[in-house]
Amino acid sequence: MTASLTSADGRHALVVDGRPLRLLAGELHNSAASCPRHLASVLDRAAELGCNAVIVPLSWELVEPAEGEWDLALVDAALAGCRARGMRLVPLWFGMYKNAHSSYAPAWVKSDLRRFPRAETAPGRRIGACSLFDGDEGLRADARAFARVMAHIRDRDRDGTAVAVQVENEVGLLGAPRDRSPAAEAAFAAGLPRELGQGAWESRFGVRADEAFMAWHFARYVGAVAAAGRAAHDLPAFANAWLVQHAAESPGEYPSGGPVIHMQEVWRAAAPAIQALAPDIYLDDFAAVCAAYARPDNPLIIPEARRDEHVSAKAWYAFGQHGALCYAPFGIESIGLGENPPIDGVVALAPVSHESTAAGAAQLAASYRLLRGLLPAIEAQLGTPRCRGLLQTGDEAQPVVLGGYRFIARWNRPWGRRSLAGGGLIASPRDGEFWIAGHGFRIEVAPATGPGQAEWLAIDEGAFAADGAWLPGRRLNGDEYGIRFGDAPGVRRARLHTY
Ligand code: DGJ
Repeated sequence: MTASLTSADGRHALVVDGRPLRLLAGELHNSAASCPRHLASVLDRAAELGCNAVIVPLSWELVEPAEGEWDLALVDAALAGCRARGMRLVPLWFGMYKNAHSSYAPAWVKSDLRRFPRAETAPGRRIGACSLFDGDEGLRADARAFARVMAHIRDRDRDGTAVAVQVENEVGLLGAPRDRSPAAEAAFAAGLPRELGQGAWESRFGVRADEAFMAWHFARYVGAVAAAGRAAHDLPAFANAWLVQHAAESPGEYPSGGPVIHMQEVWRAAAPAIQALAPDIYLDDFAAVCAAYARPDNPLIIPEARRDEHVSAKAWYAFGQHGALCYAPFGIESIGLGENPPIDGVVALAPVSHESTAAGAAQLAASYRLLRGLLPAIEAQLGTPRCRGLLQTGDEAQPVVLGGYRFIARWNRPWGRRSLAGGGLIASPRDGEFWIAGHGFRIEVAPATGPGQAEWLAIDEGAFAADGAWLPGRRLNGDEYGIRFGDAPGVRRARLHTY
């Protein structure tokens, strides 16, 4: 069983057992996998929601409660729980850094300030994050633990349930643009590493010198942890980013040195074992973030997305527009249950604004089920100009030019943060042939250029069998002529010509 990340001609694929697999996923709440009974209940929920993969946190403090003493029962529970429900596992390593803190480091790390000194936001002002400038003491301990987890997965996961891994979580320094501890100051004064050139950080990076300095050291750290894990079990590895929330924010207000796309060059140089920089998208402009991270040299992996009422529409867009490898709303198990819902007696501590309703959850589940069949059928078009995503971001219709035609998607519902949004995709495997799918819109079409009129030659509804075969339903004509989808996602296979 193998999983690898491939890139060719600007297209990317996560190839599992020889076939591309797009992860229709969800990320569990931070503490969900710390108790096997709780984990079982939330994996049930993820399976109900149609996920084919789950991102599951595994924490260093529980894996290595005392130095050199291992407890891998929770790793087994995550593997077995996903396998039993037919879902793939993406382990998420909460190692030394989680949201710019060292909250998941074991107590024996946190309490040994001599061996694992803290970062300082001003001389003498220590914070909750361990310093990167500790003679690599933390790196060695973290990398050894991660490698132990990956070796365990290699030994136990004979059927390839685990298909990728996230290394650390939203790293970076909060509270200052760079670590001001004495060792960090000495490293900064020493100037650029050979790989980035010569001279002072300021000479190469100007006003971004502090951020680039932290990016180099965080990337070097995360890359080394990733490399240690991949040496034990070579799964595709990515690092996720806490994004800049607004233009006026400066490094330190968002985690300085994290894998934001404007630090991509530094991250690539320092962390070759990290294969993708992955955005956690809580910003309103979902499409803009996708466009920034979906690049010929960076596959789009979305390990966290806001679980709002547009959660299903965003899934359609990420796969349709960019051929995303993974889309995962954060806190998938509480989707549709309202704000801060208790699950199995445990209250989720991280509500998000404009939480999705039961209708939004049902729509996501139906979309995931449909995308499971559709995405393999349009694999050759995904991530190419022969497939376009649709996403409602207002009341204006969305035009799409594809295969010689200009499509206009008109939305059914007025746009609102708390209202289901329209979303979908159009793929054209051959001239004149289209797959159109999604929810909440109707389509008008005309030739992209020149005179003449577009006419549907055939519109078939249908569904995909479990083995991926297309099962045509009615031929839609007469009163049913045209492409229209309500809140329930649907798919049409259609042919067009111009007369
Ligand atoms: C982003 C973090 O990466 C997650 O672990 C989680 O804490 C969410 N924020 C909560 O919204």
